[in-house]
Amino acid sequence: MNVAKKKFYITTPIYYVNDVPHIGHAYTTIAADVISRYKRLDGYEVFFLTGTDEHGQKVQEAANKLGIEPQEHVDRLHKRFMELWTRFNITNSDFIRTTEERHKVLVRDILQSLYDKKEIYRGSYEGWYCTPDERFWTEKDLKDGNCPECGRPVDKIKEYNYFFKMGQYRDWLVDAIRNDENFIKPLSRRNEVLGFLDKPLEDLCISRPKERLSWGIPLPFDDKYVTYVWFDALINYISIHGNLDEIKASGFWPADHHLVGKDILTTHAVYWMTMLKAIGLEPPKNLFAHGWWTVNGQKMSKSLSNVVEPNKLIDQFGVDVIRYFLLREVPFGLDGDFSHKALIGRQNSDLANNLGNLLNRTVSMMKRYFDYKVPEPVEYNEEDKNLIAKAKQVVEDVAGHYDDLAYNKILMVIWELVDATNKYIDHTAPWNLVKTDEGKERLKAVMYNSAEALRTIAILVYPFMPTSAEKMMGQIGVETKIENQGMSSVQQWGGIKSGSLMQKGEQLFPRIEEKQAEKILSEITSGASADKPAEEKPTEEDSVTITFDDFMKMDLRTGKIIEAEKIKKSKKLLKLKVDIGSEVRQVVAGIAECHEPEDLIGQTIILVANLKPAKLMGIESQGMILAASSNGIIELAGFSVEPEKGTRVR
Ligand code: MSP
Repeated sequence: MNVAKKKFYITTPIYYVNDVPHIGHAYTTIAADVISRYKRLDGYEVFFLTGTDEHGQKVQEAANKLGIEPQEHVDRLHKRFMELWTRFNITNSDFIRTTEERHKVLVRDILQSLYDKKEIYRGSYEGWYCTPDERFWTEKDLKDGNCPECGRPVDKIKEYNYFFKMGQYRDWLVDAIRNDENFIKPLSRRNEVLGFLDKPLEDLCISRPKERLSWGIPLPFDDKYVTYVWFDALINYISIHGNLDEIKASGFWPADHHLVGKDILTTHAVYWMTMLKAIGLEPPKNLFAHGWWTVNGQKMSKSLSNVVEPNKLIDQFGVDVIRYFLLREVPFGLDGDFSHKALIGRQNSDLANNLGNLLNRTVSMMKRYFDYKVPEPVEYNEEDKNLIAKAKQVVEDVAGHYDDLAYNKILMVIWELVDATNKYIDHTAPWNLVKTDEGKERLKAVMYNSAEALRTIAILVYPFMPTSAEKMMGQIGVETKIENQGMSSVQQWGGIKSGSLMQKGEQLFPRIEEKQAEKILSEITSGASADKPAEEKPTEEDSVTITFDDFMKMDLRTGKIIEAEKIKKSKKLLKLKVDIGSEVRQVVAGIAECHEPEDLIGQTIILVANLKPAKLMGIESQGMILAASSNGIIELAGFSVEPEKGTRVR
């Protein structure tokens, strides 16, 4: 029997088609994509809608300047959004454009039916009009005589127009907001709307005379007017599902979430909710207003040349890192300041050092101890059970935070499992277990559990970083695509099959080394990067090449380790005494995870002898040992034939 899936409907705002897509637009769309992917894994049939808002004065003016028809203009422009969403791996179910017939039909039907019901009437209007914002203001709204929103001059206009009887719904709306604390979120925004509704609510002017604005949907009952952009745009959320009967029958109304930025809270919380009431449809279950991204505390704007252009970011960092960063860095309801430095920091710490390292060391230990084959666990002890309980808890917490759209908390708890698994490996120390027969039995459980924790983590991070999560699955040997697995598969420990084969793959989250980070940051501050033609760009090699003279400044010497001991409270560091012929150097080296002190005595190594001394855990280190670290294994650089102590290496 086919059980009907529960339905879930989420929307983003429809973006002004003439805006250049920036990171603020991407933010909402990625947030909607993450929850859509999660809900699909959780068994829902998801409808995820985004699109473009294509009518209005600015579009008309821009088209006039280019000497083309507005329709031709928007037909070209909307593609920039569509293309960006493809690049960002966005899984929207449809893309609505307000110039499409399917949308215009419903707008006109609604206008006619509200006019017939006398919810719309003709009246005269006098007010202050802000042309760039396409919005009327009253005298008391003005700030120093200018538009309170954008600060630009306004014109006094008196004209006949059509009005929607919005004011009559004020009490209903206040009650609806008060009676359901999930209706408008976060709490601060809910209070903001209630504050706005403390004042009397006026009727809404929903038309513009055609002589002033022709690029809009004509009113069905008076073709000398077109409808106001917001009255047109808001209807996109339902026009996608057909006519009113089809909307009701679709199972996708009321919407589960309308995601919007804080700047368009009032138009959604007041205009849209009262429009729905008049139309006879239920309000959405939730309207969530997120914060804004600023740059150095300032609003992104073309005039300040500080717009963070998503395509450039993708070129530099890749899609998944940006998706992760935007939702991890700042709680969804709050403003955040965009910083490339912070992005690099997150890539290095959360992704490369924590998650990447966990994956690499698990795969390489599985290779070393079990020839890549996931073993059959024999029995679980307390330590194993704690890890399993942690995973269960994390899966539950994640579900709860999704209900609140607390993306940063979702990621924080997933990373609790990443950290717990890394610690589990440190404590159980597979490299020691392998040394005894008894240990080898225990090793099976440890490696099995590490693999299963990684499987759980991959499924949990999938909504945020879909491509990386699929690649993780490939490396740990799970062939089924994540979108074909359910959240139910992480509710039970043991989904990874013993006997499945891991495989070494590319490093998913490479560290951005200091040089590369400097290069990225300087490109950004000099405004270069993707703006420059490709041939002018410095190549990767240019950025890391040093001159022969630079190289000769390095004093690399052979030395013999004569003493080695662990450093208390440090899992990684060893204190070494290295004899370089002319003297004995004390060196602190981060190799304890892979080398026992006693095994090192007598080994010949290569020392960077003229490195400025530094203190690590309070102990002076007079040089650095050369080693290669890959997949959690650290190999010391050495020689097949032993040279004299203190020989210079070139
Ligand atoms: N077309 C209207 C929405 C109509 S919805 C029925 C509109 N478009 S917009 O392109 O100007 O903005 C779309 C969304 O992008 C808004 O939610 C807005 O808050 C968001 N953002 C624009 N700049 C932003 C940031 N700098 N940071 C975060 N979001 C930002 O308004």
